[in-house]
Amino acid sequence: MTNLDDQARAILRQNDMGGYTLPTHGLYPYQWNWDSAFAAWGFATFDNARAWDELDTLMASQWESGMIPHIIFHQPDPGYFPGPDVWQTGQSPATSGISQPPIAAIMARLIFEMDEDAGRERLRALYPRLVDWHRWWHEVRCTHGPAAIVHPWESGRDNCPDWDIGMDGVDGSGVGPYERRDLGHVHADMRPTKEDYDRYIAIVEFGRGVGWNDAKIVSDGPFLMADPGITFMLLRAHDDLAVLGRALGEDVSEIEGWATTLRSALPLIWNDALNAFDARNLRNGAFANILGSGAFLAYLAGAGNPQLETQLLRAWDAVNYGVPSADPETASFNPRKYWRGPTWPVVNALIAIGLNADGRSDLAERLRAETAELIRTHGFYEYFDPVDTTPCGGKNFTWTAAIWLTWASHSPQENAAKGAA
Ligand code: GLC
Repeated sequence: MTNLDDQARAILRQNDMGGYTLPTHGLYPYQWNWDSAFAAWGFATFDNARAWDELDTLMASQWESGMIPHIIFHQPDPGYFPGPDVWQTGQSPATSGISQPPIAAIMARLIFEMDEDAGRERLRALYPRLVDWHRWWHEVRCTHGPAAIVHPWESGRDNCPDWDIGMDGVDGSGVGPYERRDLGHVHADMRPTKEDYDRYIAIVEFGRGVGWNDAKIVSDGPFLMADPGITFMLLRAHDDLAVLGRALGEDVSEIEGWATTLRSALPLIWNDALNAFDARNLRNGAFANILGSGAFLAYLAGAGNPQLETQLLRAWDAVNYGVPSADPETASFNPRKYWRGPTWPVVNALIAIGLNADGRSDLAERLRAETAELIRTHGFYEYFDPVDTTPCGGKNFTWTAAIWLTWASHSPQENAAKGAA
């Protein structure tokens, strides 16, 4: 156990580029938005100042609009595609042109509450940027009610089946020749297909073509879908940001208003036919009719209900380890292919935070124990086959190490014993 704790800390240190952390060397050689927020949480277990540094470098890349981009290209790296030359966002440092799940405020609250004295001034410096980012989500991306994404990458669950109906409408046939770099690091069976990639690049080309104009991308872009996952993370993040604001003595009524408005939009992503929250194509209103792991983040936002619990247990009981990223009882399920089936330790951690808040500590503990077993058996991989535990994707992964230190490593019994010692 101690050994794994040491390994997890060593991974955070090895992936630390001085103020920001890579998800893993090779496959992801830059700073990613929600990976960094998890990294900060992990650092907070042994280096509080470094945790705040991570959030600082992330928020420093904020656009004038308030958006925090999904990748920050601090140093050129030829081993990654699509790099800054493809995005062409004109930012310095260079960044991508889309965002990613807004969990920074959720993590900032967890970190702040671990040491309020050490964190107060750090939080005070960060707070206005967090507010501006949340305002951007509210004003730019919640115009249809739930949170909308303009690219599957924005969801953090890149190729999950939730986006298939939206991707069907994207024409990838016109993209110029390009060379993928991910396949030099990870076997193609575990990564998105070429057809997916052509469409991903076509969406990037549209954004670049309109000079990354937010309004045009939302009104005319090739892809616009309501994402239950981001909707729930944003709702929880609004609530956490309001808590942080109150701790600083700020007026949080604007944030409370965003949260109320977003909560009132939740019925728009409830699909009666599916008996669950569901993604929706905002171009024509169609539901995806796919049970995805984003739906289970409802617990994070206090939006769980008995039907959802039935669906959660059905999907979870159909595999052996962790919550699957896609429904195992559908034809598109693939236990090794990225977000089309594998279980992701970080998503499990977020679902467990929600389940605990919902009073389902029994389910949260089951999820923790299953996630811990995957990591103990194979190490700190990016994702795992939830049926036979095969480790998948990149290894020595920052966010897997982070959630080990913060959540997965210790059972409640062990924690109680430590407290008593
Ligand atoms: C992949 C994941 C995304 C993550 C990134 C870096 O693109 O789908 O969620 O942020 O890798 O780890």
